[in-house]
Amino acid sequence: MKVKVFRCRICGDPYIGESPPTHCPFCGADAKYIIDAHEWDSGEFDVQLSEVSRENLEAALDLEMGNAAFYACARDKAAATGDEYMLAKFKCLMKVEAEHASAICKFLKIDKPELSAATCSAKGVENSHEGYEREDRAIKAYAKFRDEATEPRMQDFFGALVEIEIDHLQIHAEDTK
Ligand SMILES: [Fe+2]
Ligand SMILES: [Fe+2]
Repeated sequence: MKVKVFRCRICGDPYIGESPPTHCPFCGADAKYIIDAHEWDSGEFDVQLSEVSRENLEAALDLEMGNAAFYACARDKAAATGDEYMLAKFKCLMKVEAEHASAICKFLKIDKPELSAATCSAKGVENSHEGYEREDRAIKAYAKFRDEATEPRMQDFFGALVEIEIDHLQIHAEDTK
């Protein structure tokens, strides 16, 4: 089978493979959002935003930047203690949340803010507990934003974020059992 180029409708990033991945390797979106790159709509991030969706995207950006900063801290603590599993988990989560922030900035037509410094525990399991709480807050916020959105594209986008953050929550739940 020949490889081809795919593209994720949630983050816009391309992927090369024989078939679409089960989840976008960049933003974590479900395979249903990954399309043949030939079919890409160049206006995908050009949405006439309602006032509510604009405010909700700004709130989502704050959540994502805060969570990315937290996961960067947790990644660095795991690296310092040589915990390879926690290092892998928090590194990936940091990249995914930063990708969500990038996608939000594409809708808002703004530059991505700098990642600020965050505090976290020295212990991976405690950071997994905090990660769980953070994902739980994000899921609740994005479900509300999805339901408040009148634009189909924003309903899809916030709906996809809900699914992705539920996946993250489940990983933390496993790690704190
Ligand atoms: Fe993606
Ligand atoms: Fe996120």
